[in-house]
Amino acid sequence: MPLIQLRTYTLKTPSLAAAYAQRWKPTMASIAKLNIKTRGVYLGETNPKQVVAVVEFKDGDDPDTKVGEYANSPAFNDDLGEIDLSSDFEGVEARVLRPLGFVEGNNMASKLARALRVTKKPEQYATMTPSQAIVAFEPGPAHKGGANWEMTDIKVPSELGDGELLVEMVASGICHTDIALTDPNKGQSFPMVAGHEGSGYVKAVGPNVKKDVKPGDPVLLSFDSCGSCKECHEKRPAYCDTFIPMNLYGESDVFKHGADEKQSIGAKFFGHSSFAKLSVVKESTVLPARDLVKSEEELMLFAPLGCGIQTGAGAILNLVKPGVEDTVMVCGLGGVGLSAIMGARIAGCKRIVAVDKVQERIDLAKDVFGATHGLNTSDLTDLTAAMKEISGGRGPNVVIETTGFPLVLEASYYAVDTRGAFVQVGGPADPHYRFSLDVVQHLFRGIKLWGCVEGDSFPGEFIPELIKYYREGRLPVDKMVRYYQAEDFKKALHDMHTGETIKPVLVWR
Ligand SMILES: NC(=O)c1ccc[n+]([C@@H]2O[C@H](COP(=O)([O-])OP(=O)(O)OC[C@H]3O[C@@H](n4cnc5c(N)ncnc54)[C@H](O)[C@@H]3O)[C@@H](O)[C@H]2O)c1
Ligand SMILES: [Zn+2]
Ligand SMILES: [Zn+2]
Repeated sequence: MPLIQLRTYTLKTPSLAAAYAQRWKPTMASIAKLNIKTRGVYLGETNPKQVVAVVEFKDGDDPDTKVGEYANSPAFNDDLGEIDLSSDFEGVEARVLRPLGFVEGNNMASKLARALRVTKKPEQYATMTPSQAIVAFEPGPAHKGGANWEMTDIKVPSELGDGELLVEMVASGICHTDIALTDPNKGQSFPMVAGHEGSGYVKAVGPNVKKDVKPGDPVLLSFDSCGSCKECHEKRPAYCDTFIPMNLYGESDVFKHGADEKQSIGAKFFGHSSFAKLSVVKESTVLPARDLVKSEEELMLFAPLGCGIQTGAGAILNLVKPGVEDTVMVCGLGGVGLSAIMGARIAGCKRIVAVDKVQERIDLAKDVFGATHGLNTSDLTDLTAAMKEISGGRGPNVVIETTGFPLVLEASYYAVDTRGAFVQVGGPADPHYRFSLDVVQHLFRGIKLWGCVEGDSFPGEFIPELIKYYREGRLPVDKMVRYYQAEDFKKALHDMHTGETIKPVLVWR
């Protein structure tokens, strides 16, 4: 039986859901290409109480022929049991018609997920390779990020799908997003393997891989994109129409585990799930590194370029492109924020203000990464005033916000100088958080308000540029990385939480 697993996607506001429906309509062709046979079914939200999944099934060989349509019916309620859809799904491809949100609380969504779960073709599991991965088995307590992760024996299918590679991981960086997306209420399906900064060696190349890679080649891994939507065509893959489902939710049933090898584990998180010693990786995430890295040490060191570092540095160098007279203020000095500081130094900005609640990080930002000023948010009563003052009185021309913490976010937005830019990079803990904007002030002061994903990067070009900066001594990523054996990931997480380590990198060999 082929497999369909429902992926959930949170959108609580009906009007936003409607906007998304509009946005997605023209991209159906690219969605169909995601091989949704083994991917998601998205739930729509027509009113806050009703879940709708509308899926169209197309003949795999003849995409113009509709062979069936599935929509939820009144039968889809909380008492829903397993439904055998195998006959409907045989040899067909699912096309999402209405990729919308889901109702608050995961109950209905996960029941639908189970109901639509069918198994993958048995021949794909004919041979499996034993390996290990850090598996998130269930949503973890939000305040103890990663407490739900366990090193687990897994089996990796030997047969690869179209455009897939098997990669033996050398190193994987931990980014805050790995923690945030294994939290409860983010629509994630469990068990799953996170990890979205990675490097390793190609072990096998599946059918129809176009990139120049062969077994034994080193590769760097970044994020996934469809390659065929408008944004992808314009070399803006971080804004791919299908970025959220492809990256944040990956695919179900990639690995197996358990004594009978019948239990499935989802992976291909950001197209590669780098928290696995051996992982199934989508070609779109792969950057061939034969001519980029000089040694295995470099391969390890460059693992975090694929998300955190390109995100911070790219927000400055690709998006804002500040000038030498500009004051840049960076809120939050984790892997992302310190990379923004390094980016601002590369751009030659006059004043670079490092903001955090951990004094050691502020000191480090100044001593090593190029900040000229520091601000500790602890015990401050008027954060906006303090931010303006440390930025020379009028406030910064550019704010890169990476804490996602409402007080810091709002204070720093209001600190921006006239005609300045505010760039949101950090994700708030509550995905439904909203902040109120003084619209009149906003327009009269000519503030630019930007969201920024993955530093606006085109990784195939920007990562080599970052490596060049590293070699020139302008991007000292070695000063922010600390290595841990993969089995010591709990210690790595602990040190990341306490602020002792900025960018933990797990080593798999
Ligand atoms: N937009 C994107 O494409 C993208 C990519 C990667 C990461 N992210 C997000 O960016 C954020 C940062 O990621 P990271 O890996 O650098 O995280 P991190 O946890 O390593 O760093 C966060 C920093 O913010 C500081 N901070 C938190 N609350 C604060 C407060 N109230 N006042 C001052 N400082 C505070 C912490 O001390 C820490 O130094 C996360 O939300 C992550 O999910 C976004
Ligand atoms: Zn795309
Ligand atoms: Zn990340």
